[in-house]
Formats: sequence, C-alpha cells, structure tokens
Amino acid sequence: MASILVVDDDPDHLELTLARLRTGGHEPIGADSPARALELFQSEPLDLLLTDLEMPEMSGLDLLREVKESDPTVPVVVLTGHATVGTAVEAMKTGAFDYLQKPIHAPDLLVVIERALREKELVSENIRLRQELRDKYHHKNLVGTSARMREVFRLVEKIGPTSSTALILGESGTGKELVARAIHEASARSHRRFVRVNCSAITETLLESELFGHERGSFTGAFARKKGLFEIASGGTLFLDEIGDTPPGVQAELLRVLQEGEIRRVGGTEDIVVDVRVITATNQDLKKQIAEGRFREDLYYRLNVVSLQLPPLRERKEDIPLLVEHFLQKKAGGGEHPRPDPRVLALFNGYPWPGNVRELENVIERALVLCEDNTLTAHDLPEDLRVFIGSTGPEDFPTPSEVRSPPLDLARASLEEMERRHIEQVLIAVEGHREKAAQTLGISRRTLYEKIKRYHLGRREFS
Ligand SMILES: Nc1ncnc2c1ncn2[C@@H]1O[C@H](COP(=O)(O)OP(=O)(O)OP(=O)(O)O)[C@@H](O)[C@H]1O
Ligand SMILES: [Mg+2]
Repeated sequence: MASILVVDDDPDHLELTLARLRTGGHEPIGADSPARALELFQSEPLDLLLTDLEMPEMSGLDLLREVKESDPTVPVVVLTGHATVGTAVEAMKTGAFDYLQKPIHAPDLLVVIERALREKELVSENIRLRQELRDKYHHKNLVGTSARMREVFRLVEKIGPTSSTALILGESGTGKELVARAIHEASARSHRRFVRVNCSAITETLLESELFGHERGSFTGAFARKKGLFEIASGGTLFLDEIGDTPPGVQAELLRVLQEGEIRRVGGTEDIVVDVRVITATNQDLKKQIAEGRFREDLYYRLNVVSLQLPPLRERKEDIPLLVEHFLQKKAGGGEHPRPDPRVLALFNGYPWPGNVRELENVIERALVLCEDNTLTAHDLPEDLRVFIGSTGPEDFPTPSEVRSPPLDLARASLEEMERRHIEQVLIAVEGHREKAAQTLGISRRTLYEKIKRYHLGRREFS
C-alpha cells in the first residue's frame, strides 16, 4: 500500500480529498500545514505528496522545493485554484509531477495519483537495478563481469576477513595489486595501513632494513635507528610485491617472521612482536623457481595458504567493454567523456593484450589525448595494436555487419534501453555465442532468446 501525504490548510477541503483517496483504495495521511507535512515527511517514508499551492505560512511551491531537495524520487502533485495557474506552471518547472485544478474532479485525481505512483515505482526500480548492476560488476575498484572475475570477487570476500597470508598470481598488469588492496579492504584491518613494498627493486641489505628496520650504525649509511615496514604496518596489511625476486637472505628472515610473529631490526638484539597480515604477489612461476633453487620451498608453503590466480585479459574478453567504460569515466573524473566507436571495441576484442589491463588502460589514456571530437576512433589507437590486427586503415577493421547503437547517456536512459544495450554488448563480447552470453548475463537461454527477439538483436552478426 502506497503512503500518500495530503497537505491543505483548508480543513474541509483536506477531509474531502482524503475521503476521495480512501474511496480509491488508498490510505492517505493528512497535514494541515506545510510545517506539519515536512515533519511527517522526515519521519516516515512517503510515496507521494499531494499539496495545495496557496497556504499562509509557506507556499506549496516552497514545500515542493524542500521535498524534492531531500528526496527527488518522491512525485509531487499540486492542487491549484483558478488564480494560481501561473504558479502551477512554475511548480511543473520545479519538478512537480502534475497539477490539478480546483474544484477537483474525483476520477481525474485518482488517475493522476495512479500515474504518479507508477512512475515512482519505475524510478525506484531503475535505481535499484542500476545499483545491482554496479555491485555485480564493480568490486572495490575491481571491474569485471566474466565468470572468472566474479570468482575472484567471491574469493576476495571470503579470504578478506581471515588473517591468513595470501599469494596472488598472474601475468603483469592483471590487477594483482588492486586485488591485494581489495583483500585488505575486505578485512577487519581495513582502517589500518596497507603498506606495499617491491621486493625486486632494491638490494638485499636495503630490503632487509626496509622490512625489519635497523639500529643506528648497523651498516654504512645507517645514521639513525629506523623502524621497518613490518612495524609500520602493524595492525594492518603488508603487501610484498614481486615476491619471486626476493633475495635469499631476506627469504630466510621472512620465513622466521611468519613462523614466530616477531621481527628483529638489522643490528638489533631485541625481538619485537608484530601483528601484520602478509599478502604477496608475483608474475613468476614459483614452482619453477623452487626447482631451480631460487625460492625456498618452506617459505612458499607459508605464503601460499590461500592463492588467487588472476586470469589474463585475453581469457576474459567480455570484461573489455566494461573496463573501457571504467577507464573513460576514471580519466574524465566523473564528467562527460568521449565514447569509443564500435569498431574500436571490435578491434580490442581481436587483440591478445600481452600487457593485460594495464595495457588497455594505457591505450585508453593515449586515445583520449589524441581523440578529436567526442568519439574514440581506430585512428586514436597505437600503431602496433592496429598492425597486429593486420589492417592499415580503419576501413579494413573488423566491424559488425550492421552499425551498432550510438553511445548511451546512462543518466537519461530507460531501463529497457539499458537492458537492450547491455545484452548487445555482451553478445558482441562473446561473439554471438548465446550459451556464453546467457551465462554472463546470469539468465536462462530461453530468457535470452526472448529478449533477443523482443529487442530485434537476432539478425545481427556479433563476430
Ligand atoms: N579488474 C580491474 N578493474 C579495474 N582496473 C584494473 C583491473 N585490473 C587491473 N586494473 C588496473 O590496471 C593497472 C594494473 O593493475 P595492477 O598494478 O594491480 O597490476 P599487477 O598485476 O600488479 O601488474 P604487475 O605485475 O605489472 O605489477 C592498474 O592501474 C589497475 O588499476
Ligand atoms: Mg603490481
């Protein structure tokens, strides 16, 4: 049952309107002043506001403004006398759903109310679905819709709250650092520090002092006592990146810390208890490193309590359109941004992305600099990408047999349009493979067929 608030300073008129609404099957609440209406509005959820325009202390127009400001989704219908038709027009401009002229004709009242309630329902549904889409495809800055990325999101949520060490594996640019941060965010440690250290970038001595700290004079250049990152990250997470390149001496020390939960500063004698969750990442094959004697097997087992393998981008191409949109939005800082022309997406789909998501991000960044009007075209892409596809001019680019839909303005799109576009994009990404498309969309094949028919997507070629 919808809750409708009626505001009128004329008690007889208020009673009459309430009675009419009750006859129509509603359960309205009455307020004899805008002040009372605002009070009610703030204390309980409302589906619709019906207000007189002319009232002594505050006009219906001001009430409308206040209500719209605090909840723009609530439809407001205004009641106007003959003298206030001009104000009614202004009310419409301010965001009123509709107006009714007094004396109110009861059937008109009910029709307008029904329409307004229906609209409110649609708006809420639209917001809810959009939120759902966002939650489904975005996970703490991680974007992805492929089954494999969704599995990654699930694992992040699962292992986040535990304090166990985690090993993240994947090619360069697949998002290992982003996943490490997401695990930290999903943990009870999220309000404490996340500290990253690159284990391959510095010498053994420096890395040791970085991680464990040092006492004054413990080596040349150690002028003062220094805290290590294990101490600095205490209570939080320490992310050891490129763990595969850790020098042997540091590996031994790390093993000790993980076993005992204590560190000793370089040149120090005291053991310091630390409470740090360790997450590591590498793009190396650790098993091979172990076989070659370059990585300690005992340390490997300590680090590999849970492991997460990030798939390369070429194995989850259905994520590309979403990632492209994500990077365009990110670079635009939330403002308007250019849209890729469908050929660009088709090109992206055919490229193997050796540098994975990072390469895609760089390509987008570069294209944005080169792009002239509001469309990213194949001309804005790097030479090697175009050469790979084996074409020289945009004319030869693989392109769908029919021109695809123009860019969509999300803020103004209807739910149907969003659905149609989304299905279209997924079909493009999976090259028309309906089984895969249904899986990605999380619907049955039958539902997909129905939607393809409804939106006339069937005759297209998506590869
Ligand atoms: N799923 C994703 N959604 C959004 N952005 C992503 C995703 N994966 C990676 N990125 C972005 O791609 C870039 C590379 O990611 P990241 O640095 O985490 O990769 P990496 O696996 O650590 O690479 P490397 O092994 O080279 O260090 C970053 O800018 C990151 O924000
Ligand atoms: Mg990295």
